[in-house]
Amino acid sequence: MRDKKREVAEYIEIEGMPMEAIYELIERPQDLSKGDYALPCFRFAKTLRKSPVMIAEEIKNKILDKSHPFESVEAINGYLNFKFDKKKESLYLIENIRKQGAKYGSSDEGKGKTVCIDYSSINIAKPFHIGHLMTTVLGGALYRIYKKRGYNAVGINHLGDWGTQFGKLIVAYKMWGDEKTIRETGIMGLNDLYVKYHREAEKDKDLDDKARAWFKKIEDGDKEALKLFELFKELTLVEVEKVYKRLNIKFDSYAGESFYNDKMEPVLNELREKGLIEVSEGAEIVNLDEYQMPPCLLVRSDGATLYATRDLAAAFYRKKTYDFWKNLYVVAYQQNLHFKQVFKVVELMGYEWAKDLIHIPFGMVSLESGSMSTRAGNVVWLKDVLDRSEEQSLDIIKAKSPHLNNKETVSKQVGVGAVIFFALSSGRIKDTVFSYDEVLNFDGETGPYVQYTNARCNSVLRKAEVDIKNIPSGEIEADFSSIENESSYTLISILEQFGEILSISLDKYEPSILTRYLIDVAKAFNKFYLENRIIDGKLGVSNARLALVCSTAVVLKEGLSLLGIEAPEEM
Ligand code: ARG
Repeated sequence: MRDKKREVAEYIEIEGMPMEAIYELIERPQDLSKGDYALPCFRFAKTLRKSPVMIAEEIKNKILDKSHPFESVEAINGYLNFKFDKKKESLYLIENIRKQGAKYGSSDEGKGKTVCIDYSSINIAKPFHIGHLMTTVLGGALYRIYKKRGYNAVGINHLGDWGTQFGKLIVAYKMWGDEKTIRETGIMGLNDLYVKYHREAEKDKDLDDKARAWFKKIEDGDKEALKLFELFKELTLVEVEKVYKRLNIKFDSYAGESFYNDKMEPVLNELREKGLIEVSEGAEIVNLDEYQMPPCLLVRSDGATLYATRDLAAAFYRKKTYDFWKNLYVVAYQQNLHFKQVFKVVELMGYEWAKDLIHIPFGMVSLESGSMSTRAGNVVWLKDVLDRSEEQSLDIIKAKSPHLNNKETVSKQVGVGAVIFFALSSGRIKDTVFSYDEVLNFDGETGPYVQYTNARCNSVLRKAEVDIKNIPSGEIEADFSSIENESSYTLISILEQFGEILSISLDKYEPSILTRYLIDVAKAFNKFYLENRIIDGKLGVSNARLALVCSTAVVLKEGLSLLGIEAPEEM
């Protein structure tokens, strides 16, 4: 990406000062009307034995003697202010975006750094419900943005594939199920069994004992138990993969909880050797009183390991396997304490990389009405939400664009995109309420609004005489004075921020910054579109504006794609 600060530094000559040192001093002035960049000259007064005012004046004169890319260079109160030539700038930027296409906004800032991202991490044999929407799309967006910025991102689905629920499921399956039916009904059938189990277990206390016994069999590697366990896992994953496909989600690893069965003991031994384990009523714990936290329970009195034990083993495994720079956990804020405990235990073991374990919490999504408990059976399946959003979007598209050819495909892209965009649009920590009407409002601050703006760009480009997209950069016959107006300049300056926006989104682990940004691009474009005749009688004028439209479409499409949303060219 272009580094404008560096461009400024390259023009400044000060005796005895290397360019790098000057570069570090350059800042953005508080009042941007005075300039885009400023060099404070106070630091040089002592060595040069001149006043900062004089120094600024002298540097200025040296620059003005040569040819330079600035509209103005001004010395004000010991500062030297630089303003870039807007017209040349804009031209450069538009051409640069057009030339780079989908690569625009990439960088190598993450070179050599591996980021593990633990996201989605659904539970086997439980429904993929709306509670897993946030972690899935947040993690997916971070994964793609990290890659775009040059990081080596590793997407990990830490499947919830261990625990007593499998014992319960086997009991239920043996009483009320069979393989043929369950293969047909898949995850829905498993869920029904699970719900039924809980209803019956309230009346029949023996069931829980049976369930525990079956789980023990899984742990001991009993053939039948393992076979059923694998069947449940297989059936769940088939269904879940369909949802991932719709949401454009990918993983590099599906190492879930069961993967760590044989990897906990070494960690526990190390803890014991380091004297960190206390035995309390037969259970092994790490006392965290000193840190104002309840103890981290690692081995129950019956010998069973826990969720935290698996996470501990997983952290070590990831460090060893990926040598991560950071290991992120995109998990709801309900698990704040869990992660604080696990991270603390790693720290107490003396590993400095404990600081690289980062929990990225997020708030709850609820539907306008209804709760989401798995056991009560009235859970909101993510699949159903996506289906309904697609259907509703099809109705809107039929009404809005009766002549559109591929309505079905587009309504899928819009329906699913609307859900993703919604999930990523407020700050992640906020609890939100999902409403179909709101997320599908084509005029609101929504996914469809951004997609629609992109389609509008493409429609303008299609109507033009010249195929702007395919003209090599620099060869465009354009009159760039036709974009010398406020709405064009505003749009251009927003497009310029794309790379920076991506970088900030990562620093804060907030794809919502990108989401917000795309709304700003769309709004700025629509204002520009309203105020400028794009296809004008004069070819030069049209071409310059078309080039800007083309750059806008590049940013919208790439921005959406980083969020996991498709950008249909016609809507
Ligand atoms: N399966 C868990 C759940 O659905 C989330 C797992 C998150 N990842 C982790 N490493 N603990 O609540």
